Amino acid sequence: METAVVNFSQFSGLADGDCAGRIAAARGRLGERAVLLAHHYQRADVYRHADLTGDSLKLSRLAAQTEAEVIVFCGVHFMAEVADILSSERQTVVLPDLAAGCSMADMASLAKVERAWRELGEVLDADEEITPVTYINSAADLKAFCGRHGGIVCTSSNAADILRWGFARRPKALFFPDQHLGRWTARTMGIGADEIAVWDFDRPLGGLSESEIRRAKMLLWKGFCSVHQMFRPEHIRKFRGEHPEGFVISHPECCEEVCELSDYVGSTEYIIKTIAAAPANTRWLVGTELNLVQRISREFAPEGKVVKFMSPMVCMCSTMARIDPQHLAWCLESLANGEIVNRIKVPAEDAAHAKTALERMLAY
Ligand code: 13P
Ligand code: SF4
Repeated sequence: METAVVNFSQFSGLADGDCAGRIAAARGRLGERAVLLAHHYQRADVYRHADLTGDSLKLSRLAAQTEAEVIVFCGVHFMAEVADILSSERQTVVLPDLAAGCSMADMASLAKVERAWRELGEVLDADEEITPVTYINSAADLKAFCGRHGGIVCTSSNAADILRWGFARRPKALFFPDQHLGRWTARTMGIGADEIAVWDFDRPLGGLSESEIRRAKMLLWKGFCSVHQMFRPEHIRKFRGEHPEGFVISHPECCEEVCELSDYVGSTEYIIKTIAAAPANTRWLVGTELNLVQRISREFAPEGKVVKFMSPMVCMCSTMARIDPQHLAWCLESLANGEIVNRIKVPAEDAAHAKTALERMLAY
């Protein structure tokens, strides 16, 4: 490959339409050397270029299976890290804009989780009594923490199975960073509200008493998704009042009351499949990110399905939206010119332990 450095400033002012042509041309030059993976929340003008799409679980499997030399990940930082950990040494993962993070993942840091583990260790034998379970929406060093401490990773599609795996080994789970996914999953597994405690990571001992910690089966990190917290029970009640025949489907990152009022709760892939399999002419209210809802609304309209967004406000994953056609065009042209930009490389030791926790999940 010839090397010619392409500066992003040459792309930042490009019109979206011009980017599309340059993306297609760069992809043509790269051929099968590059594969483009995109999460369901990715904006339409980027999503249309994807080779493979999916929810977090599906994308992690796809990343582990692809043979391509370069994985261009149109998602957020933790997803690209998972792709790096699960792909082979000869493969390279790039994230077109390094600022595409996840605000929920940022709510748990290794320092805070280690502090929680130390403090829990003052009350219990943490390594004997607690399985650390991290939602895949977390940094690689937290997955590595789980790998080192007999823990595991879960996604929104498999959280109940993964918690069963944990409870078969130890009586308690510390679940981070999303309290809502943890709470909803625990409740569907029959764990009572009195056995669930929220760990406030900014307070000593998580803001809990020793007896609350001993009683809790599920310790929930006090994190949340800023997008999914916008969906409220009143949005569902209004819809039910206007369309009693309609269906409500939500992502488990929504709060417990929203999940409880929904007919179906599941991952982004589950939401798409459920509406795809529904009879024609049905009406749906969907509690998840706007790009996905708008896409399926267009896709299922020919079948007479009416798909509406749950909130009257615009709830987009603004960090994922940072992967725009300009960054994608820049990234692909750089690759086609032999220059790797925005590489995601997890340090070897973290990658090894994080892989242990991810493989426990994928094997289960
Ligand atoms: P999925 O695993 O359902 O794709 O969800 C990922 C996510 O970040 C939702 O906010
Ligand atoms: Fe993170 Fe929420 Fe965006 Fe999902 S929607 S990637 S949880 S900020």
